[in-house]
Amino acid sequence: MVKVTRIKKFFKKKKILITGNTGFIGSWLTLIFLNYGANVTGISRDLGSKNGIFNIFKLKNKIKFYKFDLTDEFKTNKFFKNKKYDIIIHLAAEALIIDGHLKPSKIIKNNILSTLNLIQNINNSKTYFINFTTDKVYFNNNSSKNYFKEDNYLYGDDPYSYSKVCVDMMTKMWVNNFLNFRCVNIRCGNVIGGGDWSHKRIIPDLMESIFKKKKLVLRSPKSTRPWVHIYEVCFIVLYLIYKNYGNKKIYEDFNISPNKNEEKNVLWIVNFYQKLSKIKINFSKKLEFKEKINLKLNNSKIKKNLTLKYKFNFRDRFLMTYYWYKFFYKTKKKLIDKTYDDLAYFENIFFKK
Ligand SMILES: NC(=O)c1ccc[n+]([C@@H]2O[C@H](COP(=O)([O-])OP(=O)(O)OC[C@H]3O[C@@H](n4cnc5c(N)ncnc54)[C@H](O)[C@@H]3O)[C@@H](O)[C@H]2O)c1
Repeated sequence: MVKVTRIKKFFKKKKILITGNTGFIGSWLTLIFLNYGANVTGISRDLGSKNGIFNIFKLKNKIKFYKFDLTDEFKTNKFFKNKKYDIIIHLAAEALIIDGHLKPSKIIKNNILSTLNLIQNINNSKTYFINFTTDKVYFNNNSSKNYFKEDNYLYGDDPYSYSKVCVDMMTKMWVNNFLNFRCVNIRCGNVIGGGDWSHKRIIPDLMESIFKKKKLVLRSPKSTRPWVHIYEVCFIVLYLIYKNYGNKKIYEDFNISPNKNEEKNVLWIVNFYQKLSKIKINFSKKLEFKEKINLKLNNSKIKKNLTLKYKFNFRDRFLMTYYWYKFFYKTKKKLIDKTYDDLAYFENIFFKK
């Protein structure tokens, strides 16, 4: 693995645009790219959660931040006048599967139009564009034997997944026809880690039930997902850019997920945290909509591309997440130091010093 000093040298002063920079993944990526000396610009339609990384670390003062809705074509076109970026990471989206069921046309319009308005403005053939879609883009017949690879058939049978299949195909179609930037679609498993405050996601809900004694409602206790830690996602994206920035490939796609057999179901997670916290977690089940029971992703393509060995396992992912929230609820004053320590620890595992 390459030395971290070389990577820092590469990112120093790189012009990076992150859409959805106030959300869970976007704010962590912003924090990490700032530590690597990049020049970060962010676009989001809101300021994110009060206790999210964007606000805790006061990232608004450290980047160029533009608050507007990317579905507004006029504002998006105006923003891009005379602006060029080395790297664009597109995360802006309605990211919750449950919202897709509650407000289908809103989610579909938002995710498709924001992406379309963005890509038609990228006017620099050197731009390396990373588009986050999801693990839910694959045609999933719920078989436990499925282990999705990047060239598997795409199909979205709920509004959120459908919107993501559309943007996944749209970016590929766009670059193949117009050749005006290089594109990578990232299909990522369920991301866990500190600083996620989305309602109806298992980790924030579980942490509230442990530390605030709130009753937990489980939608699909038996659903198995490829959980991956936010640091793994961020450092894999960072390293992917470093390794592939200058290459000539117009289009690529990669899964980001844990190694085989590290997928866990929701009930397993509840039991894990129950043992760890020694707190009896009070939960009930409520079926709000049908969710897939099995979802597993094959991660060999990205591991091969980056000659990557996963040094984190499922315990590390869930433990690191738990302790971040424990700090938040019990010793908030030390949270910033704790977060930087965790990042340094992970960086040490990921890269050579
Ligand atoms: N969190 C996960 O487990 C996960 C897994 C796979 C893929 N993803 C994808 O990664 C991306 C980020 O997910 P997240 O969990 O950080 O989401 P999030 O809900 O925490 O953040 C979403 C961000 O997008 C912005 N946004 C949404 N619509 C916008 C619009 N029209 N214009 C401007 N800004 C807009 C919001 O302001 C916010 O900053 C999404 O595309 C999501 O589908 C997330």
